[in-house]
Amino acid sequence: MPGIALVGTQWGDEGKGKVTDLLAEKTDLVVRYQGGNNAGHTIVVEGERYALHLVPTGILYPHCVPVIGPGVVVNPSVLIEELENLSSRGIDTTRLLLSGNAHLIMPYHLELDRVTERRLGKNRLGTTKRGIGPAYADKATRIGLRVQDLLDPKIFSAKLEVALKEKNLFLTRVYGRLPMDQAEIEDAYLGFAETLAPHISDTDTVIHQALDADKTVLFEGAQATMLDLDHGTYPFVTSSNPVAGGACAGAGVGPLDIQRIIGISKAYCTRVGSGPFPSEADPADGEILVEAGQEYGTTTGRKRRCGWFDAVAGRFAARLNTLTEVVITKLDVLSAFEKIKVCVAYEFEGQRHEHMPPNQTIFNKCKPVYEELPGWSQDITGARETEDLPKEARAYLELLEELLATPISWVSVGPSRDEIVRLREMS
Ligand code: IMP
Repeated sequence: MPGIALVGTQWGDEGKGKVTDLLAEKTDLVVRYQGGNNAGHTIVVEGERYALHLVPTGILYPHCVPVIGPGVVVNPSVLIEELENLSSRGIDTTRLLLSGNAHLIMPYHLELDRVTERRLGKNRLGTTKRGIGPAYADKATRIGLRVQDLLDPKIFSAKLEVALKEKNLFLTRVYGRLPMDQAEIEDAYLGFAETLAPHISDTDTVIHQALDADKTVLFEGAQATMLDLDHGTYPFVTSSNPVAGGACAGAGVGPLDIQRIIGISKAYCTRVGSGPFPSEADPADGEILVEAGQEYGTTTGRKRRCGWFDAVAGRFAARLNTLTEVVITKLDVLSAFEKIKVCVAYEFEGQRHEHMPPNQTIFNKCKPVYEELPGWSQDITGARETEDLPKEARAYLELLEELLATPISWVSVGPSRDEIVRLREMS
């Protein structure tokens, strides 16, 4: 069972960490392929809670090799801090492999992320302010610095000079900020190089050798389909491609190297930051979801916006990622409701849209069409078999399966590892 991609189908925070944890036992490599420390995976292993932002979750399992692929943007000081924290908790971090082709997040990326958001005012995106967008922008305009540049101080210095000249003009003339100092950045980054050098490797070869040896490689998506730069609710998206196709470019494999594509969906929807969210709940129901689901961001601590399951977005994600199966998480949170809504379509000017509308003008203004189901109003965290679930919960899952036209394999009914109902074994 070589290549498996794990992708979020909504706006992120679907609980991908728990699914990785459940798959970890049979996984040899866990590869991050996009994003950076804007992500946040919370994983509980043997009663210990870990919040990972940049390091792939595979680090927590001694038999797994965690890999940061070329499509990731890396803030080296954050990476080192995360590795030190893990080490101090007894985790062996020496196995981490870091692609030399991954791009570096530089101090001016953080500053530009902050000042751009401020300038945008009410139109701001609500980014995580981790410098993600500016780092990917430099990659695309080809003035980015890469991890491998850390190993060659002369090249690092020359590339930094080119980039910094432009950035300082922006910072001083457009944003009225102080310029950044080349020597200071060089000192800090070349210091990081010493710590990171043992991890820098040719990850392409490692991944392909593993696939050739029939080992299991898990491509771990961060963020999610609706935040995809090309396919999400642009411009309220992240600057990379979390979709399954992004795993190919971001890790360096071909589409046929991935056999299973698992979509992770919450039993309802959440989003952080700005942007359209058709099935956003009214404030009273939203508050119940926030509290019952503890919907606060792992990375920024922000309260998440909450809403009902959006089957239009779900169908879109199933198609775009060619999902082979879906895992539904946090079904237990819906126990708080007597009636549960599912957004089965959108409506705009009297027209029903069962699929994602073709342009943002419609999407931004469309209204959700809800189907209402009876809730189960009882604690389901003890359910382990399909039969343990109340019939209303089973009916809810059957409806989601039908709307997504994709089999649901597992359903999570609580945060810990054993709180899972396996409706069917994964294909
Ligand atoms: P950026 O990725 O920091 O540039 O932020 C762009 C958008 O993506 C913002 O709306 C963020 O809130 C959102 N975002 C980025 N990372 C995550 C995540 O891991 N979970 C949920 N939303 C995210």
